[in-house]
Amino acid sequence: MTSNQLGVQTGKRIGLMTSGGDCAGLNAAIRAVVRRAIHGYGWTVIGIKDGSAGLMARPVEAEELTLLSVGGDLIRRGGTILGTINKGDPFAYKMADGSVVDRSGEVVEGLRQLSLDALIVIGGDGSMRLLSRLCQLGNIPMIGIPKTIDNDVAETEYAIGFDTAVSVACEALDRLAPTAASHHRVMILEVMGRDVGHIALTAGVSGGADVILIPEIPYSLTGIANRLQTVSARGRKHALLVVAEGCGTETGDKVTQDRDGGRARYGGIGQYLAERLEDLIEAEIRVTVLGHVQRGGMPSMRDRMIASAFGVRAVDLIAQGGADLVVVWKNGDVDDVPLSHVAGQTRAVDPDGTMVKTAKGLGLYVGNDSSA
Ligand code: F6P
Repeated sequence: MTSNQLGVQTGKRIGLMTSGGDCAGLNAAIRAVVRRAIHGYGWTVIGIKDGSAGLMARPVEAEELTLLSVGGDLIRRGGTILGTINKGDPFAYKMADGSVVDRSGEVVEGLRQLSLDALIVIGGDGSMRLLSRLCQLGNIPMIGIPKTIDNDVAETEYAIGFDTAVSVACEALDRLAPTAASHHRVMILEVMGRDVGHIALTAGVSGGADVILIPEIPYSLTGIANRLQTVSARGRKHALLVVAEGCGTETGDKVTQDRDGGRARYGGIGQYLAERLEDLIEAEIRVTVLGHVQRGGMPSMRDRMIASAFGVRAVDLIAQGGADLVVVWKNGDVDDVPLSHVAGQTRAVDPDGTMVKTAKGLGLYVGNDSSA
């Protein structure tokens, strides 16, 4: 038995980590987990630093999270106070000398050293899967909280971070529109999203784009050019085009910057399009690559609200004896599903769904040569 800062006798010590790429709203989720665990159950929460790297470190890098450490303005702060990593599979860990080593035993030993009764992982599908395997080896129940600006986690309408990222992308369009109009230019905005187009589609519709390109729907350069010429012929001499970083070229090849631990880093499709469209339209073209700006800054109201609901639900699931569950947002409410329903799945944009229909209904070009 330990006693927490409220002096309540408690047997539960739960671990908490953030894993994968950061985003806005992670700190709000950390705050919610700590507040629910302490206020609701009198438990102790151990914050693990830098995802699984903290569990591999010796001594293990972790510290107790108190009401004080999650107080103040934490709900408003971007990033994660716990730190995170988005590379380094402990089952096949790439060492500095290039060799690949199974370090899963070190992570499991790290969990054991912390004497945890359960672990909450705030991460994407990949992180949740890895940590679930490790927790099973350590005989520790795990609950997942989905986060990713890409919003591609199956079974949940929202992952933490998406709403803020879309707001940033929409604001970028708001800022590009007047300069596009002043110079009679076509502005191309390249946004993140890995292999899905949720950010591009939602921001494009909300930000008044003329063309939206997403990985889920093929496009043609002539389709884009036709749409831009139609806009011009109707009297507007500027236009906005949003492209998801994971869009391939016209023939479907991904445009990448470099390889990062075996995973290609996307980037450059905006410039690719600009160079080809220059030959097809008369207007000047400029490219903006939004990049990591989409992951930083203050979380939006919706991200804070969802992160808070997810954090509370995750702790309640541990109290109910749950394991290998993921909290999700469905039909305007928090819910939970087995991790097996989420693992290995990707929630891509539905080409027949509401958002694509909306974009087409507004007369936007979204590929498949569906321009108005
Ligand atoms: O998965 C989130 C994400 O921001 C993607 O949209 C993007 O492709 C990738 O991470 C960037 O990763 P990194 O931070 O390693 O550059």
